[in-house]
Amino acid sequence: MSHPAMSRRPIGTVSYDIVVIGSGIAGLVAALTAASRARVAVVTKAALDDGCSRYAQGGIAAAVAPGDDPDLHFADTIAAGRGLCDEDAVRILVDEAPARVRELIEWGVSFDTQDGVLQVGREAAHSRDRILHARGDATGLEIESALARRIRATAAAVFERHQALRLLTDWTGRCCGVEVHDLDTSSTRLILASSVILASGGAGRLWRFTTNPEPATGDGVALAWEAGAEVAGMEFVQFHPTALALEGAPAFLISEAVRGEGAHVVNRDGRRFLLDADPRGEMAARDVVAQAIWAELQRTGDRAVYLDCASLAERAAMRFPTIHTTCLQYGIDIRRDLVPVAPAAHYLIGGVRTDRFAASSIDGLFACGEVASSGVHGANRLASNSLLESVVFAHRAAHEALRRNAEAPPPPAEAVDPPRPAAGADDLPTLIRLRERLRDAMWEGAGLVRDASGLARAAAIGAEVAAATAPSAGVQGIGLYHSAITASLVCAAALGREESRGAHMRTDHPERSDDWLGNWIMQKDRGPRLDRHDRSPR
Ligand code: SIN
Repeated sequence: MSHPAMSRRPIGTVSYDIVVIGSGIAGLVAALTAASRARVAVVTKAALDDGCSRYAQGGIAAAVAPGDDPDLHFADTIAAGRGLCDEDAVRILVDEAPARVRELIEWGVSFDTQDGVLQVGREAAHSRDRILHARGDATGLEIESALARRIRATAAAVFERHQALRLLTDWTGRCCGVEVHDLDTSSTRLILASSVILASGGAGRLWRFTTNPEPATGDGVALAWEAGAEVAGMEFVQFHPTALALEGAPAFLISEAVRGEGAHVVNRDGRRFLLDADPRGEMAARDVVAQAIWAELQRTGDRAVYLDCASLAERAAMRFPTIHTTCLQYGIDIRRDLVPVAPAAHYLIGGVRTDRFAASSIDGLFACGEVASSGVHGANRLASNSLLESVVFAHRAAHEALRRNAEAPPPPAEAVDPPRPAAGADDLPTLIRLRERLRDAMWEGAGLVRDASGLARAAAIGAEVAAATAPSAGVQGIGLYHSAITASLVCAAALGREESRGAHMRTDHPERSDDWLGNWIMQKDRGPRLDRHDRSPR
C-alpha cells in the first residue's frame, strides 16, 4: 500500500484480441506466444519485469540430462502429490518440458552451463539431477528479464502499474476483458478482449511470514471467483521449509537447492533431526521437511532451526550468490555460519480450476502459473515444477486462446457495464490495520499446521475484512477486498477437508483418508463439492 489514497475516474475503453493479466513468467510466456499472431495487451500492477517469478531461485525442472527421462519426472511428481495429481496434466507437464526449455533459450534465457552443457542440480524428492538454473540462484530473475526484453521488442501493448479491478463478462457470461486502474494517473479504463489470460501469481502475502514479494496478494483468484469461475485445491498452501528466520530480516528464501548441494538442517544441538521423519532427511519432499521442522520448533520452543552449509565450503558463495550476499547483509556468512531458518508461506497450490488447455470454467477466461489449479501439483508441489508449470500451461493457454478467438467474434463494447463511478478515497491507516490483522489471522489460524478452531477464527477475520472493504471503496480497498476473498477461500477449503494430506496438515484430523481422494471445488453462490478421483490411491 505504498501509493496515496486515490479515487477512480473512468477514461474509456480499448480493445485487443488477448489481454494477459500479470507479468511473471507465465504472463510473459503467454504474451510472447501470442504476440506475433494477435493484438496482445499485458497488464501488470508492478513494472513489466517485476513479476513474482523474478524472485524464484532454485530453477526449473525438466528431464533434459543424460540418464533422465520424462517418465522419471512423472513418477516423482505423482509421488510428491500424495494421490491428488491429475495424471494427464502431469504427463503434459513432463513431456512438454524439454521443448519449452529450448524455447526459453531461443528467447534469450541463459541457463548455467559447464563445457557447453546445461548444468542440472538436485532438489528434494527428485530422483535425478534435473533442475536447470541461471546465474547460480537467480533463475527467476534471468528468465523474467530475458522475456521482458523480448516482449518489449514485439507490438504487444504494456500497461504497467495498472491494477485489475474486476473481470468483465458479457450477457452470455463470457469473459470479455478487464477493468483496470492506472495507479499513476488514478484513472480507470476497460480493456476489452476476446480472451483473457489470468497469470497474476500467488498469495503468500496473505500470511505474516512469507518468501513472496509485495505483489503476491492473491487478487487473481478473487477476480476469477467474483466473475463466477470454479476454484480448486485452495486448502493446499505450500510452506517452504527454509526461509531466513532472523529478527528484523524478511523471510528471505534459502533455496532447496542449497540442501540439494549437500547442506544439512540441524537443531540447536547440531543434530540432523529430519532423519527421524524420513530416511531421505533434507531431501525428503517439502511437506515432510516443513512439518518436521515445525514439530521440532514446537518441541524446543525455538524460533529457528539451522542450515549448515559447511560441506559446500567456498563453493556456497559461487553457487548461491544471491543467498550469500543477502545473508551477509544480516551478518551471516553462509560459508561459515549456521543460517537460522523456519517455514514460511511460499506457494498457493490451489487456484482457478483449469483444464489441459489452461481454460477456466468461464468461457473466454484462461489461467496459468500460480493463480491456476491445473492439477499438476496434487496436494504437495515438487520443487521447481512451478516455473515449469508456468511455461507449459502459458504456452497452451495462448494457443488455445488464439484458436478459440479465430472462432469467436470480438466482444461488442456495449456488451459490458461501463467503468463504475469514481469512489471515495481509501482510508489508508484503516486499510493497513485490517491488512495486518488478516495476515496475523492467516498465520495463526491457517498456517502450516491447522485445526478447525484456528481456521474458523481466521475465516471470521477474513469475512470481517471483506465486509469492511467490499467494492465501494477506493482502489487499495478493492485490493484488500480481493485478498480477504482469497484468504476466506483458503480457510473454507481447509475447514472442509477433514484429513491431513501433503501440504494440508490438520491436528484435529491427522490421518490421510481415502474418503478425501479428490479435488475440493468451490464456486460463488454454489456449495463446495469433492470431485473424486476414480483411480486407486498411491
Ligand atoms: C527453492 O528454490 O527452494 C524454491 C523452488 C520452488 O519453490 O520450487
